[in-house]
Parts: sequence; C-alpha cells; structure tokens
Amino acid sequence: GKGGYPFYMLKEINEQPAVMRKLVQHYFNGDQPQVDEKLLADLKNADHIYIVGAGTSYHAGLVGARLFEKMAKIPTTAHISSEFAYEHPLLSKKPFFIFLTQSGETADSREVLVHVNEQHWPSLTITNVDKSTLSREATYTMLLDAGPEIAVASTKGYTAQIAVEAILAKALGEYLNYDEAKNFDLKNQLGSIANGMQSIIDSKDDFQALASHYLSQPRNAFYIGRGIDWSVSLEAALKLKEISYVQAEGFASGELKHGTIALIEKGTPVIAIITQDRTAGLTRSNLEETQARGSNALTIVARHLAKEDDTVVIPDCDPLLTPLLSVIPAQLLAYYTSLGKGLDVDKPRNLAKSVTVQ
Ligand code: M6R
Repeated sequence: GKGGYPFYMLKEINEQPAVMRKLVQHYFNGDQPQVDEKLLADLKNADHIYIVGAGTSYHAGLVGARLFEKMAKIPTTAHISSEFAYEHPLLSKKPFFIFLTQSGETADSREVLVHVNEQHWPSLTITNVDKSTLSREATYTMLLDAGPEIAVASTKGYTAQIAVEAILAKALGEYLNYDEAKNFDLKNQLGSIANGMQSIIDSKDDFQALASHYLSQPRNAFYIGRGIDWSVSLEAALKLKEISYVQAEGFASGELKHGTIALIEKGTPVIAIITQDRTAGLTRSNLEETQARGSNALTIVARHLAKEDDTVVIPDCDPLLTPLLSVIPAQLLAYYTSLGKGLDVDKPRNLAKSVTVQ
C-alpha cells in the first residue's frame, strides 16, 4: 500500500534515503565496493562503454558517463535506446554495453540488447527487477534494491541508478588502480547524501509553497544548468512535464542566448541548478539574462556556492554525486505542482509505467 501517503510518488520520494543506505549495505564490504570480478575484467577490456536507456534511465546514464570517465578513464557515452536501436554511432572495437532500466522490460532498450547479443558483446543490465527480461538477456546484472516503484514518474529509480553506477565506477577504477577511484570516499558520501536527502524532504512544505506560487499557473517553464547540472535539468523537466503537464525544458544554460531565450516572457519560471564551482558564475549570469526579460528566477544551489537570495539551498557533497541531491527539490516541485492542480500524480494521462512497445 501507500503507507499513509496520498500518492505512491511521495512515498517513493521519501524512500530514497533508505535506498541509499540499503545500497551501501548490499554493495560494500568495509570501504570497498564489492562487484563481480568477471564483470570488472570485461569492463577493463573495453575501449568504450555505451550506456543505453530511455526517459529517466537515459538521464541517469548521462550522469553515469561522467562517473565512468572520471573514475575508470574509459570513454563513456549515454544513448537514448530508441535512437540507438536504429541509428547508432560508429562503434569502437571493444564495446561494453550498460543497460539502465528500472523495470527491465523497456522494449526500446531490449531492441538494442538483442543486437548486442547477436554480436556477442558483453553487457550489464542495471535494474530494479531481478529476472526481468533485460536482466536475463544481458551478460551481467546489478540490482537497484529500490523496492517496487509504482508511480509512473520515476524517482527512487533514478537516484538508485546513479548510486549503483557510482559503485561500479569506483570498483572499476580501483581495479584499474587509479587514485581518483581509490580516493573517492563513496561509502561515506552515500551515507551523508542519505541524510542530505532527508533534510530536503523534511522541508517539503517549502516546496509545496514554491510550486503553488511559481508553477501552478504558467504553461511553460525552464530548468537550466551546465555539465552535470544540465543532466539533472533534463530529469527535472521530465518530472514536471509528465505529472503536472507544464511544458518544461531542461536546457544547457549557455545555449539559451543562442535562440531559446526568445521564449522568456514575464512570469516564465526559470529554475537554475547550480552545484559546480567552475560553472556556477556562468549559470548565474545566464539566469540574470532571463530575469532581465521578466522571468521568475529560482535557484537550487549547493551550500558552498549559495548566496543570500537563493531559493533552495541543498547540502554539499562530492561534485560527481550532486544529482542525488539536486534532483530531490525538482521531484518535490513536480509532485506538488501536480497535486495542486488536482491531477492523478501516480497515473498521469497518456503514460504507462513500463513501455513494452517500440
Ligand atoms: O523501466 P525503465 O527504466 O526502462 O523505464 C524507462 C522510462 O520509460 C521511464 O524512466 C520513464 O521515462 C519514466 N516515466 C520517467 O519518470
């Protein structure tokens, strides 16, 4: 059941700290991540990692690509499964495929796996459902331990996928003997991130107020960011679109002035995600450019970069793991916007939980 929550989505948002702790228990022995050695050997042999997923899982793959490149120094790219199945880039000589699929049943992703198996390329499915189709058909499986996700809008699936990608990236980097991976204090990070998630969730009333003030009326909205914050912007916008029917775009903030800023009108909500030292100032100026055209500017900012009038301040963590925290306010904003409009949060129109047609 919903455990006293009005909707599964809110229950599942609330479960995220516990999922982080469960993943630590499952995958760590002391401070060392425990991952199948054969999987690590196959990954070590790869000259390129292709991450394949749809929707939220694709967005988690964008974050994962950064983790693999930083920790294991293997070129890694994330791909939309429905595109990759029919129009893929020229592949490297020794590819390794990672399928991200919460349900393990997404037809677009399976279509890619069928081709991968025909070529006898090694693959891993990261999924929430043991023995699901993509789990059975891939060479390896890693489980998300997130418990059933019922709401159509994925929340704990996204954060669990990123955490498992981080665990694998660290394990692989250590296997390859890289200092970046050895010094990546992932176990402690995941523990404090669980607490950080909880503190954001505890202030959910603030998000209800923000949602009703800024997002209940407008037809469109923007999430903007750079780098990893852009990746989260895509996920944040998808959440808002799918359950509250606000036409939202996740945008690379530097691209706005190359065309899209023409859409900014008086009252258009623009929410900037700012967690990275190198790009914080740039994203802030892009946000100011929209304000000069009348936008309602909101910010989701990592504590060490926060200024007095920032809207939402989130706890600090390792710069590669910020999506685990910065996505939580976006999930809550989408939830309360949908709730405030009286919509069926868990079962938005036109959508199914698992998409088993191409
Ligand atoms: O089960 P999967 O992870 O393969 O599902 C992929 C997408 O269909 C899914 O993430 C979808 O985008 C969600 N509704 C997003 O909230």
